[in-house]
Amino acid sequence: MMKNNYYYTRIIIGIYVMLCCIESSVAQPKLNANNIDEVVKAMTLHEKALLVVGSGWGESTTANLGSFAKLVQGAAGSTVSIPKYGITTAVLSDGPAGLRIDPTRNYDSNTYYCTHFPIGTCLSSTWNTDLVQQVGRAIGNEVLEYGADVILGPGACLHRNPLCGRNFEYYSEDPVLSGNIAAAYINGVQSQGVGACIKHFCFNNQETARLGNDVRVSQRAARELYLKNFEIAIKKSQPWAVMSSYNGVNGTQTSERRDLLTTILRDEWGFNGIVMTDWTGGTDPIWRNGATDRIANMIAGNDLIEPGEAISAQTIEDAVKSGKLDIKYLNENVKRILQMIVKTPRFKGYDYTNKPDLKAHAQITRNSAAEGTILLENKGALPFADNVKNIALYGVGSYDPIAGGTGSGNVNCSYTVSIVEGLRNNSYNVDNKILNTYTSYIKSAKDEIAKTPHEWWQSLPLPTEIIPTDSDLASAVQTNDIAVITLERLSGEGSDRTKADFNLSNEEIQLINKVTEAFHKAGKKSIVVLNIGGVIESASWKDVPDAILLPWQCGQEIGNSVADILCGKLSPSGKLPMTWPINLNDTPSSKNFPSDGIEVNSFAKGQAKYQAMKNIGYTNYEEGIYVGYRYFDSFKKNVSYPFGYGLSYTTFSYSKPNVINKNNAVEVSTTITNDGQNAGKEIAEVYVTAPKGKEDKPAQELKAFAKTRTLQPGESQTLTMAIEKSDLASFNEKASAWIVDPGTYTFRIGISSRDIKGVAKINVKGMEIKAHNVLRPIVKLNILTQK
Ligand code: BGC
Repeated sequence: MMKNNYYYTRIIIGIYVMLCCIESSVAQPKLNANNIDEVVKAMTLHEKALLVVGSGWGESTTANLGSFAKLVQGAAGSTVSIPKYGITTAVLSDGPAGLRIDPTRNYDSNTYYCTHFPIGTCLSSTWNTDLVQQVGRAIGNEVLEYGADVILGPGACLHRNPLCGRNFEYYSEDPVLSGNIAAAYINGVQSQGVGACIKHFCFNNQETARLGNDVRVSQRAARELYLKNFEIAIKKSQPWAVMSSYNGVNGTQTSERRDLLTTILRDEWGFNGIVMTDWTGGTDPIWRNGATDRIANMIAGNDLIEPGEAISAQTIEDAVKSGKLDIKYLNENVKRILQMIVKTPRFKGYDYTNKPDLKAHAQITRNSAAEGTILLENKGALPFADNVKNIALYGVGSYDPIAGGTGSGNVNCSYTVSIVEGLRNNSYNVDNKILNTYTSYIKSAKDEIAKTPHEWWQSLPLPTEIIPTDSDLASAVQTNDIAVITLERLSGEGSDRTKADFNLSNEEIQLINKVTEAFHKAGKKSIVVLNIGGVIESASWKDVPDAILLPWQCGQEIGNSVADILCGKLSPSGKLPMTWPINLNDTPSSKNFPSDGIEVNSFAKGQAKYQAMKNIGYTNYEEGIYVGYRYFDSFKKNVSYPFGYGLSYTTFSYSKPNVINKNNAVEVSTTITNDGQNAGKEIAEVYVTAPKGKEDKPAQELKAFAKTRTLQPGESQTLTMAIEKSDLASFNEKASAWIVDPGTYTFRIGISSRDIKGVAKINVKGMEIKAHNVLRPIVKLNILTQK
C-alpha cells in the first residue's frame, strides 16, 4: 500500500512538472526587444512586484530570488532574474570614478582590480568633453568586461557649498559645465553597450542628514541650476537610468514625486530610461513616523527600489490587491525595467573576460588627470628649470597620495603612484633622508588612526603634518634644488566637510612657511601641490610658495601625471569648475549649510527634534540662483580664485569674437593663437549677459565653452560654439515659463569669469516656453535678490 502511494505521488508530481514545462515552454513568452508588452501581460502580479524591487544586498538573506554576489562580487545591487520569461539579472555597480567591485574573491587566485580614474571634479576641470568621453569609454569597458551591466554614475549634483562631503564626485557649481561633462561621461560609458545611471536626482547638496533632509528651494533656482545640469546631460546622452536622491524637496522625498520623476524628467525632457532609488531610499520611513512610501515610489515613476527587500515586494503586491496602487503604474515600471534589461550585455549573453586592458586605461587616467590639473600660481618656478635634479619632498601626500574620495565612490585599484615614484620615473632624485622620515611616520600614524572605530564608508582622519627640524631643513636646502610640499584632504559619503577641513591646519601653514623661507634664503623655490577633493582656503597663504599646482584627487596615476606637469612634459590646461572664496562665509549658502560637528546621517523614526532643526531636518536655499560665480560676480565680491581660472606654461591671444544668428541658435566663434614659447591648450568660456527683463538676472552666466587641441607656439585654432536661443531664458515662476527677454545680449569670451578677452553683442527676439507649474515650495523662502 505504502509503495503504491509512493508511486502515485511520483506520477502526480511528474505530470505536474510536465505541465509546468509545457506551460513555460509554450505559453510563456521569452523576452526580446519586440515583445515587452506581451511579457508584461503574461507576468503575474507577484512577479511584477519582485521585478520592481532589487534582489537585495550582495550577501543578503532577504534577497528575493537568490544572491547576485556570485555574479560580480562587490557590486552594489541588481534586478531579479525571472528565468521563466528569459528575464536576466542586471548587475548595478558603483561608480563614478571607475567601477567599484571587490578586487579579490574567496577561493580564487585571480584579481579583479579596476582603474581609479580622476574624481568628477578633476574631470570637469579639463573642460574637455572629448577627453571625458574617452574616460567614459574606458570605464564602460571595465563595466562590460567585469560582467556588470550598469554603472552607478556619473554624480551630477551641483557644488552648492564648498563643504558638501560628496562634491568630489560632482562636477561644478555651474549647470552648463556640469551637464556637458556628465553627458560626455555617459556617452562614453554607453558606447560600450552598458548603461550609466546619473545620480542623485536631485538636490543632494549636503551629506548631513541626507536620508531625511528636506531641501526648500525656489522653482526658479531648481529649474535654472539644480535641474538644469541633469536636463542637459539627459537630453544629450539618454542615460539608461537615473537614481533618485535620498533627500526630500519642498516637502516630499524625491523618489515619491511624480512631478519630478515623470512630469519634468519624462514629459518635459523626454527621458526614456528607468529611475531607481538610492540604496534603501524609498523604503526608509525615517522622517514620516512610519508611513510607508513604496507605493508612492511606483506612482511617481521611480521604477526600481534598490537594493531591495522582500517586504517591499509584498507591500506593492498587497497594494495592488487592495486597490491602493493601480496596476497601470506597476505595468509601466515593469515595462521600463524590461526595456533596460534587453539592452544589457548579460541579457545578450555577452561572454565577459574579466580582463579589461588595465594598462591602456592607466594611460587614459594619466592623461585625463594631467589635463584636469590646474596651475593656480606660478612665479617662474614651473616647469622645473633644467638645473633642477634633486627634490626635497614634504607633506604626507607626497608619499601616500589620495586617488579619490571615500564611500561608494571609492574604486578598488591595484596601486596609486606616489609623487616620489612619479618624479623618479622622470629621472629626478628624491631626498632619501626626508623620505625615510615620512615613511616611518606615516606607517605609525596610520596604524594609530586605524584603531578608530569606523564604518567602511567613513573617511578616517589623515596623519597630521610633521614640521622638519631646523637642522634637517638646513641640510635639505643644501642638497636639494627645489622643495615640493603636497597637502591632502579626504572626504566622502555620509558626512560633510568641516570648517577645519576647509582651512589649513597650523601644521600645514607652518610647513609651507618654514620650508619656503629656508629654500628662499638659499635662492631656491618651493611648490605646493594640492591633492584634495574640494575647495580649501587659499587667500591667506597663496603668495608664500612660488607655485601652486592643483591636481585634485586625480586617480591612481597621480604621481605620474603630477610629474608630467612639474617637469614640463605637458603644459597645464585645467580651469577651476568652481569659485574659490576668500572665506568660507563669503559663499552665500554657508548661512544655510550644516554647521560643524553635527553628524546626523539618518534620524530614527519619530525623532521630530531633528525634523525641526534647520540644516538637518530642512535646508533653505535662500541664496536662490546666486550660487558660485553667479553670486560673486553679480554682487562684486572679491574671491581668491574665480570660476574658470587656471594658468598655463604658455600664453594665448584671442581674436575679437564673432556672433551671428543662425536659425534657433546664436553661433559664437573666436580664434585662439598660442603666442608663447610652449605647446599648450586653451579654453574659451562664453559668458552671456542678458538684457534687463522681468527677472532679477545674474551679471553673467556660462552658456558654452570649448577647448583647443594642443597648439604649438604660433599655431591658431578657431573655436565655434552654438547656443540655442531658448538657453538664454530665465525661469519665470509666475508664468511657469522659460522667458527669453527681447533685446541685446552680450557674449563675453573669458579665460575665467573675471578675465574677459573679447565681447560681442547681438539682438535676440523674445520667446516664451511653457513649463509645468510643479515643485512649488510649501513654505515662504526669503530669497536673495540684487534688487
Ligand atoms: C550612495 C549611492 C550609491 C549606492 C550604492 C548609496 O549609499 O548614495 O551613490 O550608488 O549607495 O552603493
